[in-house]
Amino acid sequence: MRPSVLVARQVFPAIVTRLREHFEVEANNEPVDWSHAELMHRLQGKQGVFVAATEKIDAALVAGCPELRAVCSMAVGYNNIDVAACAARGIVVTNAPDVLTETTADFGFALMMATARRIAESEHFLRAGRWKRWSVDFFCGADVHGATLGILGMGRIGQAIARRGALGFGMRVIYHNRSRLAPDVEAPLSACWVDKDVLLAQADHLIVVVPYSAASHHAIGSRELALMKPTATLINIARGGVVDDAALAQALAERRIAAAGLDVFEGEPSVHPALLAVPNVVLTPHIASATEATRRAMAQLAVDNLIAVLGGRAPLTPVAAPAS
Ligand code: GLV
Repeated sequence: MRPSVLVARQVFPAIVTRLREHFEVEANNEPVDWSHAELMHRLQGKQGVFVAATEKIDAALVAGCPELRAVCSMAVGYNNIDVAACAARGIVVTNAPDVLTETTADFGFALMMATARRIAESEHFLRAGRWKRWSVDFFCGADVHGATLGILGMGRIGQAIARRGALGFGMRVIYHNRSRLAPDVEAPLSACWVDKDVLLAQADHLIVVVPYSAASHHAIGSRELALMKPTATLINIARGGVVDDAALAQALAERRIAAAGLDVFEGEPSVHPALLAVPNVVLTPHIASATEATRRAMAQLAVDNLIAVLGGRAPLTPVAAPAS
């Protein structure tokens, strides 16, 4: 009998067609989020599930789906999946690294530039019909070229951003990461490891790219914001919860930092009302990897992982269970 797979989120039809070549498939064909209970119900009798960053695969769901053998995500971040609970049950978890690195780095850079140069704020001003005359200090922002780029989290995406900054914009690149990069990786990026507080104090533009975990919860909060330059910008393309959104909104309102660009939010798709109320923040709805080619590649990788795992082969991009 062919294994059964659930596609928990509406995805490109070609992806479902490919899965049907290998599996019995039940797919979410509507632009709706299934509740936890519905997801659990639909997973009964299924061996595999295709998810994104949004479906919560927690210990209760794992316990309630005894036949599940593979959880394959089209996202690179996997804080929505209880990897330890899956590992304890022998369920393989996969994510989608690499295929989105350059696209996400492009977006991080775009968000940084939009934030530094006040593109969204000035566009809102123009659309509101408020542009009556030009003046010398009209929407002056901060230079990106030649500035100090701070990167918190120097994985694949952080490194791709560092390359753009150093090689394309002549930026001085400093970073903080749990572990320092090997010298042969660091050198071509012209990137320099610094202590986290030095990163906060020296960055003109600070971009956050660390995965979310209990350890990175509110890695940027009031204390960290207070260490930043009043002229600095903060960009979060990592996950909601890495930045304390309430503390950030207050810092922006009081101009303790100049501006922020956020693609991810605590409790998204809800956005903290205080962030919606301040002008000096660019807000985008979690779209850093959103080009059609990249989203197709991410989904295809999740499919390839399902085919491998449920076909008895090694996953292409497994997520390691945390050390216990
Ligand atoms: C998106 O946020 C991802 O983790 O791929």
